[in-house]
Amino acid sequence: MIVEPAPAKLNLALHVRARRPDGYHELETLFAFVADGDVVTIEPAGAPGLTLTGPFAAGLSGEGDNLVLRAERLFRARVANGAPVAILLDKRLPVASGIGGGSADAAATLRALARLAAVPIDDPRLVDCAEALGSDVPACLLGRTALGRGRGEVLLPLDGLASLPALLVNPGVAVSTAAVFARWDGIDHGPIGAGDPLAAALAGRNDLEPPALALAPEIADVLALLQAQPGVTLARMSGSGATCFALFDSAANRAAAAQAVRRAHSWWCLETALAGRQGLSHGDSLAA
Ligand code: C5P
Repeated sequence: MIVEPAPAKLNLALHVRARRPDGYHELETLFAFVADGDVVTIEPAGAPGLTLTGPFAAGLSGEGDNLVLRAERLFRARVANGAPVAILLDKRLPVASGIGGGSADAAATLRALARLAAVPIDDPRLVDCAEALGSDVPACLLGRTALGRGRGEVLLPLDGLASLPALLVNPGVAVSTAAVFARWDGIDHGPIGAGDPLAAALAGRNDLEPPALALAPEIADVLALLQAQPGVTLARMSGSGATCFALFDSAANRAAAAQAVRRAHSWWCLETALAGRQGLSHGDSLAA
């Protein structure tokens, strides 16, 4: 059995620089990962197919073309054509919510299948699969703090991000990534600064906040509540939303903020921490 964590990704900053002729947008984004997320388990001896568990399993049931299954098909077509396997996806992250749930699941599936087939984790064919599966999948395959360029797939790993307490909050609305990008105002507000990733994030922005807020006004309420909490160093929407994150100066302030959010709303709320300097490494994979 292979158990592979699929941690949530955050875009600490996301600068949209240009529309591209291929329908995508040219980005600069600071990818970071947190300690919690979905979990993909492969049981080589089990009956082939995908089984969903967890609080957000229902959001995916009936979806025949789940990214996990697409990742498995692509892996068998391009990397190693082994027998179909049983895959369990424990869906703990809200679906279509800007924290890379589906992308993280696809990346974890590729890592797990690579382990099973004894394919090195840095095999370039895994990156090819990731790029074909979605713009955020290469960052999730890498699983560590990085500056993303292009449509998000050109990655420069970054060191120096501390393991800060983080709170993730989602108001329960799913937003379409394509719809949010389509509403971008077309104005380039400039690059992400060089140097320390947290300082660059603090000086940066998420250019998808205004178009996402236009589609899901609840996001403004989430941001306002997070920004008002004691000890917040940064509160921002992640990706195309609707999940927002806040970074805190202490675990106590994070806990107090989580309490304030839960008292006021029935929003999804996850107390976690940035994965820190090393991010997720292959050594975090659990083989039992
Ligand atoms: O690559 P992925 O399938 O995850 O992207 C979903 C949609 O988000 C794309 O079809 C596109 O509309 C939009 N997108 C974009 N620019 C990016 C990434 C995604 O316009 N850099």
